[in-house]
Amino acid sequence: MIDLSALREKPTLTGERVRLVPLSEEHVDDFYASAQDDEIRRLTGTHRRIGYDEAAEWCAGRSEAPDRLDLAITAHPEARYVGELALMEVDPDNETAAYRISLSAIEFTGQGLGREATRLLLEYAFDRVRLHRVWLEVYAFNMRAIAVYRSCGFAVEGRLRDALLWEGRRHDALIMGVLENDFRKTAGL
Ligand SMILES: CC(C)(COP(=O)(O)OP(=O)(O)OC[C@H]1O[C@@H](n2cnc3c(N)ncnc32)[C@H](O)[C@@H]1OP(=O)(O)O)[C@@H](O)C(=O)NCCC(=O)NCCS
Repeated sequence: MIDLSALREKPTLTGERVRLVPLSEEHVDDFYASAQDDEIRRLTGTHRRIGYDEAAEWCAGRSEAPDRLDLAITAHPEARYVGELALMEVDPDNETAAYRISLSAIEFTGQGLGREATRLLLEYAFDRVRLHRVWLEVYAFNMRAIAVYRSCGFAVEGRLRDALLWEGRRHDALIMGVLENDFRKTAGL
């Protein structure tokens, strides 16, 4: 059985280069700026532009969300905000949940931060929440994200053809999933 208290109580997860902290009011400006970044919007297939007030309300409400986990990714040593991630759509009966991650600007990508953040979150998802399966959707053109997910134990499970229409072109999305044992093998635990 999964432990819902591990979703209610928002953790701080510390790695070598990143620290994941509960997403909150203090992150609104960075969260909002990231939502306006065109390349991040393309990679995440985000059509809608949120306003500042909506971003503020979202960040402020995250600590009260009982059934999901939204964490800001901060990088050592100055605890600079570099993105956010979420464990969501938790299904207690099947012990599954969905995952999403987005660094906040392209300048933060390619430095190993996303992989470390994903590993920290998966460790928490399997060890503390006691999930069995974590899944996600990623666009087929997003090779960097796919490489990171594979290295964390995710495997491609399916393809949603033409799921995204972006600036007149259609793109497939891939479903990827990682089971607890897959993750433990890649993490060497
Ligand atoms: C996806 C994301 C979380 C990955 O995190 P990251 O910190 O940039 O990635 P890392 O630096 O940890 O690792 C990148 C890996 O991808 C590989 N990679 C980069 N570009 C690649 C490409 N075009 N093809 C194949 N592999 C590629 C790198 O070689 C590296 O693997 P290696 O360390 O084994 O060499 C981050 O880039 C991000 O948030 N991007 C913007 C939004 C986004 O795409 N979100 C995901 C939506 S599903």
